Amino acid sequence: MSSRVALVTGSSGLIGSEAVAFFDARGWSVHGVDNNMRRDFFGEHGDTTWNLERLRTVTQRFEHHDLDIRDRAAMARLVDELTPDLIVHAAAQPSHDLAASRPFDDFEVNATGTLNLLEAARQSAPESPFVFLSTNKVYGDAPNELELVELETRYDYADPSYADGIDELMRIDATTHSLFGASKAAADLLVQEYGRYFGMPTVCFRGGCLTGPQHSAAELHGFLAYLARATRDGLPYTIYGYKGKQVRDNIHAADVCGAILAFFEAPHTAAVYNLGGGRENSISMIEAIARFEELYGRKLDWHYSDEPRRGDHICYISDLSRLRTDYPSWELTVSLDDIFERFAAGPARPPVAAR
Ligand SMILES: NC(=O)c1ccc[n+]([C@@H]2O[C@H](COP(=O)([O-])OP(=O)(O)OC[C@H]3O[C@@H](n4cnc5c(N)ncnc54)[C@H](O)[C@@H]3O)[C@@H](O)[C@H]2O)c1
Repeated sequence: MSSRVALVTGSSGLIGSEAVAFFDARGWSVHGVDNNMRRDFFGEHGDTTWNLERLRTVTQRFEHHDLDIRDRAAMARLVDELTPDLIVHAAAQPSHDLAASRPFDDFEVNATGTLNLLEAARQSAPESPFVFLSTNKVYGDAPNELELVELETRYDYADPSYADGIDELMRIDATTHSLFGASKAAADLLVQEYGRYFGMPTVCFRGGCLTGPQHSAAELHGFLAYLARATRDGLPYTIYGYKGKQVRDNIHAADVCGAILAFFEAPHTAAVYNLGGGRENSISMIEAIARFEELYGRKLDWHYSDEPRRGDHICYISDLSRLRTDYPSWELTVSLDDIFERFAAGPARPPVAAR
């Protein structure tokens, strides 16, 4: 049995909770940090308490710490006490729409919170891989400058050289990010800098759409999980712009954890990888609605608003080539069909109204 220790922030959230269960199942002692701030951000739909309770029943050695990553002294103390072998930093304010109404909270959680953890790691666990869940929003609107073709149910790239999607060389400046994209870009650069400047084994995984039934999905965050719940529970849904043909690439949280483990086993310094479902797991909004309607056997109550969300990507597919080259054993194990079927098999979370 391994005696390895992992520290996971955002441990009641989608990626954090998957990481807790994933490493616990492999014999690690996992310590989670989460203060349920998702509830504060998104209201009752965002409440993660149910997921924390679920984790307590499915894990062996999980220890929860109800701490705020903005509390610099607490983060320094915790990392010093645990000296974890791995830090997975997944706590965040994750919505670009919400960031505009709460700019200080967004920046303090996403940017300053990340700095608190990086510095704690530098002081007490500088050799341990530090994994940061970054986002494709660091590229801002730049992907929207690519020429697109409009197909019947989705957009696609006109230039065949983008067939595999967008790689890590897409520029991150001179583009609109949303305040969320800007705070995450600040964190992404800090994570890289702690790698380059201090030689620490850090990685930024720039996520596409990360998904799984344990997402405490709210309208403002958690595309597929919220769509699943809206269809299942008869909630109203709004499509914002682009005729509903905007494309997302979806990766199940389990495959995100596979990439984290691959990095732990063979870390680099200042690594950056795009991490999404790639072309094979890509889907447009109206295609996703059609699939859920078929799976649940009921119509979604949706309406269309002409105004796209600011900072929204029209067509985003992650080019996974760099990740696959550096980690040839990593692969997508959950197909798009599986992702949908796992939602339809019954989200882990009970309907909010019934709770
Ligand atoms: N879900 C996606 O589609 C997606 C896409 C790209 C990137 N990401 C990134 O991946 C990471 C994880 O995303 P997720 O979907 O699991 O988000 P999530 O909201 O489900 O999980 C984040 C968790 O962090 C916790 N948290 C927030 N502020 C905190 C604070 N100050 N102190 C302690 N805990 C706090 C929340 O309560 C929540 O449980 C985030 O960094 C996000 O930006 C997510």
